[in-house]
Amino acid sequence: YVIGIDLGTSSVKVLLVDQEGTVKGEVSKDYPLVHQQPGYSEQNPEEWVEKTIAALKQLVSSSGVDPVNIEGLSFSGQMHGLVLLDKNNSVIRNAILWNDTRTTSQCKKIDQQLGGKLLDITKNPALEGFTLPKIMWVKENEPENLEKASVFLLPKDYLRYRLTGAIHMDYSDAAGTLLLDVVNKSWSADILRTFEIPSHICPPLVETEDFVGTILPEIARATGLSRKTKVFAGGADNACGAIGAGILSEGTALCSIGTSGVFLSYEKDRTKNYGGKVHFFNHGEKDAYYTMGVTLAAGYSLSWFKETFAKDQSFTSLLEDAAHSTIGANGLLFTPFLVGERTPYADAKIRGTFTGIDGSHNKSDFTRAVMEGIVFSINESVEIFRNYGKTIDTVISIGGGAKSELWLQIQADVFKTRVIKLQNEQGPGMGAAMIAAVGLGWFRSLKECAEKFIKMDKVYEPIPENVERYNKYFRAYKDIYPHTVAINH
Ligand code: XUL
Repeated sequence: YVIGIDLGTSSVKVLLVDQEGTVKGEVSKDYPLVHQQPGYSEQNPEEWVEKTIAALKQLVSSSGVDPVNIEGLSFSGQMHGLVLLDKNNSVIRNAILWNDTRTTSQCKKIDQQLGGKLLDITKNPALEGFTLPKIMWVKENEPENLEKASVFLLPKDYLRYRLTGAIHMDYSDAAGTLLLDVVNKSWSADILRTFEIPSHICPPLVETEDFVGTILPEIARATGLSRKTKVFAGGADNACGAIGAGILSEGTALCSIGTSGVFLSYEKDRTKNYGGKVHFFNHGEKDAYYTMGVTLAAGYSLSWFKETFAKDQSFTSLLEDAAHSTIGANGLLFTPFLVGERTPYADAKIRGTFTGIDGSHNKSDFTRAVMEGIVFSINESVEIFRNYGKTIDTVISIGGGAKSELWLQIQADVFKTRVIKLQNEQGPGMGAAMIAAVGLGWFRSLKECAEKFIKMDKVYEPIPENVERYNKYFRAYKDIYPHTVAINH
């Protein structure tokens, strides 16, 4: 058996998986976000450790599996969050998370001082969520905290340290710091020098599948795991999401509608250039990459809508009702910019809209408009890929967006591609379990593991008549941003 630990933004999920890829147990535990001020989003790293230990303990004791047969474990983690440790490896301040937007002025400074060099080295633009602007914010606002720091880590790296005592960061997660030379796989001395960040705070880099240690005695005691369980580095949640959905060759792409929405594509070619319009990160597979566009409020838009207007209804019945509306929600359009937008606008200030409201519209129309607006937003990422010559013809859909037949068909019609739903999809946690399976040598490669572990369920083909109608609404959708930007700026 192997365990995949997915350290998410609002909860940690642990999965026990056998050699066939069958899930034998699953436990998840929530932890809070701390918002001291608007735009701030932090977490206490101790919560990650406590909740993971509790989840592992429950998983091991409820599984009926002899712990010595749990041979390996690995991680998937929320990206970009800054954890600073002092010389005793104690946490200096709360972690500043990926969805914290306090760093607009640091991003401007990065752009001014590095210009095009940033894209050449890191393959990404400066965005509030990334780690370098957070380190710069601490340097400017809490200089004593950076002076005390002996190392910086990302969330799952800190958790791994607490379970094994070993300090590392893997390339797929390091790629989201804006300090990694993505192609040469080393910390960028140039960027560190430019912003006077001491290079000693950068941890040793490892591959996702690297063996990094075994479980510490006190953790073995607290969780019931065997001390012999081998720990493999693991990767960023989006890299692990890609692995867990089998996005391991050119031509495959992933659409994930969770709290945020991600459209992600596999890349082998390191010279591929999307002009910084989509993120370009190291894949969990060695010497491969993935590119992705992000919709900040995807599933979050639907939860907001349900919470505000349909509190007593279940998600399932809400989504079923949307089928009573029609393509284009009878002329009602929604832009999901509830917390700003990443791709393609990189605009933290823009806010969402309902446009075209008619006296005859009912809740089904509004729900359908929200579902379609989320897919339109993700389609703006798909358009970027296509404009830069990428072929997108098969999309694996995961997350909340894969839980409704209607939503899956909307994705096929709007993306104009075949959309595939997986059997028993488990998201990034499965990717983490697969990393452990490959690290242990059960398989020669992630691809070989995916062939065994990942099973397709149903295929949704675009319906030509729907495609044409959605084309019209998508063009109108794209017109909304430039005409509403003045409201929030
Ligand atoms: C990616 C990003 C999010 C987090 C969520 O750039 O910010 O998808 O990884 O955990």
